[in-house]
Amino acid sequence: MVDANHSCAALKDQFGRTANYLRLSVTDRCDLRCTYCMTENMTFLPRKDVLSLEELYRLSTVFINHGVRKIRLTGGEPLVRKNVMSLFENLSRHMVSGELDELTLTTNGSLLSRYAGGLADCGVERVNVSLDTLDAERYRTITRWGKIDRVFAGLDAAQDAGLKVKLNAVAQKGQFERELDDLIRFAHGRNMDLTLIEEMPLGGSASCRSASFLSLGELRQRLEAQWTLEPLSETTGGPAKYVRLQETGGKIGFITPMSCDFCSDCNRIRLSCTGQLYTCMGQEGGLSLKDALRQSDGNETVAQLIRNKVFEKPRGHEFHIGEHDVNGITRAMSTLGG
Ligand code: 5AD
Ligand code: SF4
Repeated sequence: MVDANHSCAALKDQFGRTANYLRLSVTDRCDLRCTYCMTENMTFLPRKDVLSLEELYRLSTVFINHGVRKIRLTGGEPLVRKNVMSLFENLSRHMVSGELDELTLTTNGSLLSRYAGGLADCGVERVNVSLDTLDAERYRTITRWGKIDRVFAGLDAAQDAGLKVKLNAVAQKGQFERELDDLIRFAHGRNMDLTLIEEMPLGGSASCRSASFLSLGELRQRLEAQWTLEPLSETTGGPAKYVRLQETGGKIGFITPMSCDFCSDCNRIRLSCTGQLYTCMGQEGGLSLKDALRQSDGNETVAQLIRNKVFEKPRGHEFHIGEHDVNGITRAMSTLGG
């Protein structure tokens, strides 16, 4: 019988899963306003509620001491956080010591050309870059004001620095479907994998999701008419299922949080930039670690909170796309990252 108070280092939950992958949101801010993610006039968190980079690092060390071996920085957009490289530098020491296997980030790419070299120096080997279209005009519409050339420059810089790049695209009905073949050829032609993400009913966006929602099952069938898909068995412990396209040799991932069950081997936990710990993407309840962190110089209280919260990790998520998001989660994507 596993109990929540045992002193063993690994973070185990009540169903026997081990949480060894931390997704750490370092800011809720972003320099873009993607329509499926944010409203145009977003109110961001007051700065006083956001943990300092030192506090985020301190919490990270508690997770690392409890067996977390992979950390992904997310946002909002992680690279808009002032001085974010100091956090990468601190975390990189745990790459050098062998405690961490992987340090990575998800970014919209707009600042990547500035940071790619520094990230590679910190031991980052791979980056996920969000890109839903190759068309400058459409990119501007989706992101409300983004400049696609900056993403292209970011992709160049990342590859020049030796980083492996994976593209993330949110699947939507309409133009996205017509452009998908081009996006595939672009990604695979540049040796980048492409992950297609089914739109999730998170709060924050004004768009009507039931109109734009495109099931990846449907999309996959359409791809099968065009390309030869070889299913791959590899998994990242996450929701992505991969196939290889025979024609290009490149990989496509399908992330279907809405229609597939990947919860049974979920190894992830998430920390927001305010220090809320979430053990499941699809549940509202986070646990604040901020006060415990600030009220003590030692980490034992916070460690105990973490162990208990992970132990209680729910079996699965509860998304459902209904008209007007009635059953969606009210928290915005940008408070926690993807
Ligand atoms: N559904 C699915 N993916 C989303 N993203 C942002 N909002 C949503 C949503 N509602 C994606 C971004 C990025 C990653 C961080 O999350 O495109 O790839
Ligand atoms: Fe910013 Fe990413 Fe949200 Fe777009 S999806 S607004 S890039 S956080």
